[in-house]
Amino acid sequence: MSLVIPAFRERDNIAPLVRRLAQALAGVDYEIVFVDDNSQDGTEELVTELSSHYPVRIVVRRDKRGLASAVVDGFGLVDASAIGVMDADLQHPPEVVPALLKAIDDGADMAIGSRYVKGGGCEGWGLLRRIMSKGAGFLAHLFLPSTRGIADPMSGFFMLRPAVIDGADLRPTGYKILLEILVAGSPRKATEVPFVFVTRTAGESKLRLSQQVDYLKHIASLMKRKGEMTRFLKYCLVGASGVVVNMGLLWLLTEVGGLYYLVSAAFSIETSIITNFALNDYFTFPDRRGQGAGPFLIRLGKFNAVSLAGLAINMTALWTLTSIFGVYYLLSNLCGIALATLWNYVVNSWWTWK
Ligand code: GDD
Ligand code: MN
Repeated sequence: MSLVIPAFRERDNIAPLVRRLAQALAGVDYEIVFVDDNSQDGTEELVTELSSHYPVRIVVRRDKRGLASAVVDGFGLVDASAIGVMDADLQHPPEVVPALLKAIDDGADMAIGSRYVKGGGCEGWGLLRRIMSKGAGFLAHLFLPSTRGIADPMSGFFMLRPAVIDGADLRPTGYKILLEILVAGSPRKATEVPFVFVTRTAGESKLRLSQQVDYLKHIASLMKRKGEMTRFLKYCLVGASGVVVNMGLLWLLTEVGGLYYLVSAAFSIETSIITNFALNDYFTFPDRRGQGAGPFLIRLGKFNAVSLAGLAINMTALWTLTSIFGVYYLLSNLCGIALATLWNYVVNSWWTWK
């Protein structure tokens, strides 16, 4: 087993980490590869010294920086039947590594150290940090369906079989290397192993606000690569066609058919829901029809329910913004439509065409 450990200015953590790993992995055949981005803080000398007693080596990259790219470069340097990744700062307890290894031995091709399964957690995190982290995970679940079975797709602590990343087009930017692997790699069976993300005692975090923004770009990039962006655009296009159907029929039934306009509205709304459903079923989610999504009529029923709830959301936003906040009603309606579209997309892609 090889452990790839990205490190940037972590000198004070290296020796305790190597020692604790040696203790935890007694009897296991393993090696540690530090990928250091030219820290210039004595890490290099220290690892060289430790290498006479422990199975460790270090590569120093002089022209690159970045956690995810360090990990991917590390993958290229090892040749083992199991490859682990963990932080160098002791926030990932070395004592959990055997449990990851066991999960792999038991047949998983990916074992993920998880803060969000029973027994896992974060030490000393305030409410804001918790919300940010949960929110980030939720975004991943929302827009990248292949992460949905994983409670902690943002973890930086995991182990995998090389087959998971063989031939994968990994484009490592930013911090979230696991997310990249879950979406762009090919894990068949991923298991989560609980761990407590403990507080840092030496050195400091390299996480900056810009990385939160990079995270959103990363999600967008993965969506594009997986066709999820196209799917969302198709969905919006179908929605727009529904508006045309709705308005056209409302006019027709009222002006030509002579119906009372609210009666026409009921008909035209339901008709546009049905045309939207048919188009989405055929055009937006063709790949999901055969799987867990249920038979045609069930899908139609679900879509209908979701759309009516969306309508209620649209109306509520329209009323609240206009009557309570005094926003111009057409602008309020635009917000209502955006909210309802998002709601419809989320629930339909999660439930109707799951
Ligand atoms: N080689 C290299 N180059 N290593 C880096 C770089 C870099 O540019 N930036 C950070 N690292 C190393 C650090 O030295 C540390 O070992 C590890 O990557 C994590 O960096 P931290 O700066 O301590 O990150 P964090 O604790 O805020 O974030 C960790 O937890 C997150 C979950 O909350 C990481 O594991 C994230 O991937 C994870 O999402
Ligand atoms: Mn850290």
